[in-house]
Amino acid sequence: MASKKVFLQTFGCQMNVRDSEVICGLLKSRGFLVCDDPEGADILIFNTCSVRQHAEDKVWSEVGRLSKRRDKSRRPIIGIVGCMAQNHKEKAFERASGIDFVVGPSDIDKIPEIINKISGKSLYEVKIWETDGSLRPENIYHTGFHADEKHSYVVISEGCSNFCSYCVVPYVRGALHNRRHNDILKEIEEAVDKGITSFTLLGQNVNAYHSEVDFIGLLKTVGKVKGLKEFSFLTSHPRNTSIELFKAMAGEEKLKKILHLPVQSGSDRILKLMNRGYNSRFYLDLVQNYRKIVQGGILTTDVIVGFPSETEKDFSETYGLLKGIRFNSAFIFKYSPRMGTAADKLPDDVVKAEKERRHKLILDLQKGISKAIRHPRE
Ligand code: 5AD
Ligand code: SF4
Repeated sequence: MASKKVFLQTFGCQMNVRDSEVICGLLKSRGFLVCDDPEGADILIFNTCSVRQHAEDKVWSEVGRLSKRRDKSRRPIIGIVGCMAQNHKEKAFERASGIDFVVGPSDIDKIPEIINKISGKSLYEVKIWETDGSLRPENIYHTGFHADEKHSYVVISEGCSNFCSYCVVPYVRGALHNRRHNDILKEIEEAVDKGITSFTLLGQNVNAYHSEVDFIGLLKTVGKVKGLKEFSFLTSHPRNTSIELFKAMAGEEKLKKILHLPVQSGSDRILKLMNRGYNSRFYLDLVQNYRKIVQGGILTTDVIVGFPSETEKDFSETYGLLKGIRFNSAFIFKYSPRMGTAADKLPDDVVKAEKERRHKLILDLQKGISKAIRHPRE
């Protein structure tokens, strides 16, 4: 029998990029063919993101677009996996009737088996959802499949237990779970054997990593893996970032001097409402220390504008902070209420036009700063 062809589309963050690779590896090891043509595929999988409404809207529209076949006689099996699957669970079937299976981030190991179950049946008959898993089995990270020949993402921790008030991640990806130190090293060594030399360690809050060693201990051992040429990490939470980390960064020869340190707001009142666990003074001190200790280090951030009750004064504090710090680059987001989060209970009272105005002001400011840093003499 010919192998079934799977087309997988990824939305959202680097964590999803790695999860998609893991899913492709699992499917390939079970005899599926991964293809890059949705029209010719027997199975369409959407690995999704729920972090903002805009991200979800994009997925729904792609599901609608790609499920419409030119060849009407061959309807593909359609699956929604990842954060939106967890967020909507079986309700996803009501939202888009063409969907056949829904699989949350902790259940991705079950995807090949689910597709096999559906394949034997006539379509429209079976709907399968798996959203109750808690821990991913370690073996999913060792299929040996890598989309890129030189670089690989390595998940060091899954989920998040920070509960920033606006964020859906702890609800859809579950509590923080640290992978074991030896398992991480083994995954990196396996990739090095395949010729991969550059790595990015991934977690929602990598600095909170703790298993047999803490995050600094992990950096030190990863830096010693034979054959590894360079590595970096994503994302850092200011609350768990310290001078010790900066010293370790400066001392690790193979570690890239890049720090993504989301500030989210420059207003202490808003930071408190966001449950970020630091104030602007603490953040500014971190930046000062980073620049002193990790000389020439790159610094990037995330900012949310239009959080509930954000006033012009709060906004101007964020604007002033970005103007003062001069990040190499910044991702600016308009606040989007997420169901079930603490902030969802607050009125979303900054009107759309005002969110857009604040978004554009910060974007323009940052564009100018980024350009001036890249071309200092212009
Ligand atoms: N609305 C807008 N932006 C958000 N982010 C997370 N949740 C929301 C939300 N509800 C942003 C944060 C985070 C980045 C990944 O996405 O800035 O750092
Ligand atoms: Fe969301 Fe905060 Fe966790 Fe980042 S640290 S994933 S913003 S809850």
